Amino acid sequence: MILVTGGAGYVGSVLVQKLLDRGQQIRIFDRFYFGEKSISSFSNKVDIVRGDVRSFPENVLGEVETIIYLAGLSNDPTAEFNPEANYQINTEASVKIAKLAKEKGIKRFIFASSCSIYDFLNSKDSVKTEDDFVDPVLPYSLSKYKAENKLKELADDNFCVVILRKGTVFGYSPRMRFDLVVNTMVKDAFSKKTINVVDEGLHWRPLVDVENAAEAYCVCVEANSDLVNRQVFNISLDNFQVKDIATTIQTTLDKNFGVKTKIEFIKASGKIRSYRVSNDKARKVLKFEAKMSIPQSVEKIASHIKNGDISDFQNPIYYNIDWMKPIFEREGV
Ligand SMILES: NC(=O)c1ccc[n+]([C@@H]2O[C@H](COP(=O)([O-])OP(=O)(O)OC[C@H]3O[C@@H](n4cnc5c(N)ncnc54)[C@H](O)[C@@H]3O)[C@@H](O)[C@H]2O)c1
Repeated sequence: MILVTGGAGYVGSVLVQKLLDRGQQIRIFDRFYFGEKSISSFSNKVDIVRGDVRSFPENVLGEVETIIYLAGLSNDPTAEFNPEANYQINTEASVKIAKLAKEKGIKRFIFASSCSIYDFLNSKDSVKTEDDFVDPVLPYSLSKYKAENKLKELADDNFCVVILRKGTVFGYSPRMRFDLVVNTMVKDAFSKKTINVVDEGLHWRPLVDVENAAEAYCVCVEANSDLVNRQVFNISLDNFQVKDIATTIQTTLDKNFGVKTKIEFIKASGKIRSYRVSNDKARKVLKFEAKMSIPQSVEKIASHIKNGDISDFQNPIYYNIDWMKPIFEREGV
């Protein structure tokens, strides 16, 4: 049995379907901040436990062999709005659950970290490997980095800890997000016929499609422990400059969907994040390669929009900060 915390989220809902396709038994533990619609197509095939990772009931670990820990506040604005909750969920709860898992003899813990760890004050704009020095300062990336370090300390021959630093994810998911760079641009192209690019769009982002990101977790579930224990892997397709992402989306939507879009360059309101990563280690050690290109993935999102699956672009549920802010204001931390 695999326990997926955050299994109803953008990545989680795609991942759980893939794990089911591979014959795995799944238990989802989620606070369901974004509702349960994302898991409706397989909800009768999985165990579902509703709850908060900060008050995790021990019995949820019964029969579990592997934990994939995706639950969390999953971007900078949300983490900055509520740094306390962010630290509790992304760092403290993940470590607490990992400790409990180790005590219970659970074999493997796979943690959802982020390539945003590579973006820090004074970081040089070079392609970063997993061994490069990092010094994240922002609440989100810092919470992930602290969790990584504490989790690695727990690893031993019987408790395998694997860290996946994903690039910014893109693509269609049953729990859609439009606050991620590629998805935002596709949404803006359809809804405003304009793609906004900050400054000259020279900044870099490592990107990965959500299906491929999910496959990386599947590979880590199945990999030999000797290969992956205590290891950190960057998970990305490649590094892209934001201006090129915009042009690719503009061209794809024009060619395949007849959507004419203009690109507008706008002034940045704050510091722009820029970082590049190497995916050599995942390729060599995991034999994992993300294959889904931006045009392929954009076509998929666009088809869902064209089919009418998504039209309420202003719905705050697609934007983590807009959705979580009132929840925090109502419920506190
Ligand atoms: N999406 C990306 O671009 C990206 C990139 C790098 C890393 N990540 C990491 O991957 C993971 C999944 O990201 P996502 O895009 O699917 O995010 P998401 O916001 O769509 O999903 C997060 C899920 O976790 C659940 N959750 C949040 N707080 C919880 C709590 N306290 N207790 C129980 N459940 C809780 C939510 O209800 C939601 O279902 C996150 O840890 C995120 O930081 C995401």
